[in-house]
Amino acid sequence: MNLPMPQTAVETLSVSGDSHSGEEKETLAWEIREKLAEIHGTPAYLYEARIPALRARELKGVFPEALPSRLLYSFKANPLPSLAAVLREAGCEADLTSPGEVLAAKEAGYDLSRALYGGPGKSAEEYLSALDAGISHFSVESSLDLERLSEASGQLRKRAKVLLRVNPLSPPRAKLAMSGVASQFGFEEEELRREGGKLLSRVGDGVSIVGMHLYWGTQIGDSESLLSSFETTVALAEELSDRVGFPLEILNLGGGFAWPYAHSGTGPDLMPLKEGLSSLLERSDAAKSAEWWFESGRYLAASSGTLVARVMEVKASKEGRLFLILDTGIHHLGGMAGLGRIPRFSIDLLVPQERRANEVLEMDVVGQLCTPLDCIGKKLPIPRVEPGDLVAIPNVGAYGATASVVNFLSRKAPVEIVHRSGEVVAVHRLRTGHETLS
Ligand SMILES: Cc1ncc(COP(=O)(O)O)c(C=O)c1O
Repeated sequence: MNLPMPQTAVETLSVSGDSHSGEEKETLAWEIREKLAEIHGTPAYLYEARIPALRARELKGVFPEALPSRLLYSFKANPLPSLAAVLREAGCEADLTSPGEVLAAKEAGYDLSRALYGGPGKSAEEYLSALDAGISHFSVESSLDLERLSEASGQLRKRAKVLLRVNPLSPPRAKLAMSGVASQFGFEEEELRREGGKLLSRVGDGVSIVGMHLYWGTQIGDSESLLSSFETTVALAEELSDRVGFPLEILNLGGGFAWPYAHSGTGPDLMPLKEGLSSLLERSDAAKSAEWWFESGRYLAASSGTLVARVMEVKASKEGRLFLILDTGIHHLGGMAGLGRIPRFSIDLLVPQERRANEVLEMDVVGQLCTPLDCIGKKLPIPRVEPGDLVAIPNVGAYGATASVVNFLSRKAPVEIVHRSGEVVAVHRLRTGHETLS
């Protein structure tokens, strides 16, 4: 069986003056993994700090120069402050959806007056604390949401700028469509058409509606699909701002920029998008004078992260089935898939170079949790490895530790290490376990 040459964060790194061959980079990657695992233990998320900055440069390079634009980093993908700080330094602003993310953004040094706070079901307290922290831009998802913001803004006498989040009539071509389908996200397009005027008349004095927000979904796989979703957004924003009567100062077009999850490889070539966006800008009307915002979590963070784990056992079972037991599982990676919340995913498992020529076995990759749900890959072809070996899962810098069920079965969260070519920038671990309140 021929296995593909693994491509990981370190291999995709092409910083100037970097003349290492693929094989040399792979050796370097394993040396770094061994060194950091030796010092900090496993399982460990390793994040190469130079990569998010590279991705931010790529993404910003796709926005036409003539377009006043802003790139927001979606903290939900990975709120680790030292990683988020790299993206701030690379010119990103913060896309936040919880008080915890606000704290992380503060710690990462973001200017909260330039951040956006959104998400469904926001509470009055949440609005008060966000306004108090200096946030002034909000994505609002319903009439009640707008009322709560108006009250909080009136109470604190702090001004708030609102982007109306819209759920359009039909879905995009995305792996996980979040708009254009029945969902908890945003005002229904028709609702705004019908009752948008009434809505504006109830907005508090300190609150102004300054634009629209539409996030179509994640993993929109190519430039053409992205462009077609952006075209619909622009047309809808222009129509609704005119019909409802709000200025289009800011148009948040979302994103959905794709990157492989827990598999080797890279995202799609986004450069064709540049010409498409230029032409869209040229053809647009009211949107031409708006600032266009884009949000990204996955594209910016995914490629920086590799989950490094240790082989605990290779176990044979009935029907000749083999189980590769690691010290990681659904509580550290893809937990929501493990619980059947999203379609079951699979992984690429990278093995040390000295094992690559070994006989390839078909194995289920499982963890230490006492449930058959703890399976991160079924019947994968993997060269024979031994207990104690390190293995690695690439492209997990986004939706890794914090998108998993870390408290399930009360094991420790993985250590998370931000490094530059093996030189440690910061080491973190998520808090787990119960706090006794009384
Ligand atoms: C409103 C919104 N913005 C941004 C994102 C980040 O998406 P991605 O990580 O795919 O870039 C999400 C993800 O669910 C989202 O719901």
